[in-house]
Amino acid sequence: VPTIGVFDSGFGGLTVLKALTEVFPEAGYLYFGDTARLPYGSKSAETVARYACEAAKFLERQGAELLVIACNTATALALPKIHEAVSVPVLGVVEPGAQRAHAASKSGKAVVIGTEATISSHAYREALAALGIESLEKACPLLVPLVEEGWVDHPVTEEVACIYLKEAFRDGFASADVLLLGCTHYPLLKPVLQRVVPVGVTLVDSAESVALAVLNFTISGPTRVGPGQLEGVRLPEKSSAVRANMRFFVTDSVEKFKRLGTRFLGCEIVNIEHVDLKE
Ligand code: DGL
Repeated sequence: VPTIGVFDSGFGGLTVLKALTEVFPEAGYLYFGDTARLPYGSKSAETVARYACEAAKFLERQGAELLVIACNTATALALPKIHEAVSVPVLGVVEPGAQRAHAASKSGKAVVIGTEATISSHAYREALAALGIESLEKACPLLVPLVEEGWVDHPVTEEVACIYLKEAFRDGFASADVLLLGCTHYPLLKPVLQRVVPVGVTLVDSAESVALAVLNFTISGPTRVGPGQLEGVRLPEKSSAVRANMRFFVTDSVEKFKRLGTRFLGCEIVNIEHVDLKE
């Protein structure tokens, strides 16, 4: 298993790191959280691409042999540029998420939720359309701050999610049977989201999906994962070995990362270094 570099705008990507450690408990991990410059979800493609490429190069210099772009916004807006910026293989979250949504949908219709920037890029819509899935994309900008506030199982969050999703699962999309979670923070909201979607809707988590794509990549090499190829691949039973060899790099306070990050990773975070990236 290669040393895996995980990039995110901040804390949220720890949900992806967690999913990766469940698949590869023994791998080495380098995690970069651009906490000084988050949120990415409200920024322009140019800015996000510039930040993400710097971070990707940093992770490559630190020894990452494979890069996982955990941030949905960075994947949606800047994946081709990140590919160009480094010489190691790069996997983003959009394609694997779309593939699992395709595998899970019978109606051929999905609702995608994410940040403002992810949704306006239509990266998910395009990836899903290429697999024959029609999608309705809905920006849910209030959900990230609610999760960061720790309100993951809170009536206010449930109300907000309910309003957003009612606006999505209607008209032509009342029959959608998949909700694709296109943001790093949303896996923490799964219980709330499952309660507010119509009965029978499957939640597809882009964090788990990318972990499976990395598994597929390490087995079959850098071939493009074809539609349906992840269908038979299952996540191993949850492992408690979340203490794999991990180093963390953050651009803002180490203390704050430790505090907030624990919530996302589900265990205490050590080995955090502050870094300043030169523009
Ligand atoms: N990591 C971002 C994403 O997955 C959410 C947080 C942000 O806006 O920076 O889209």
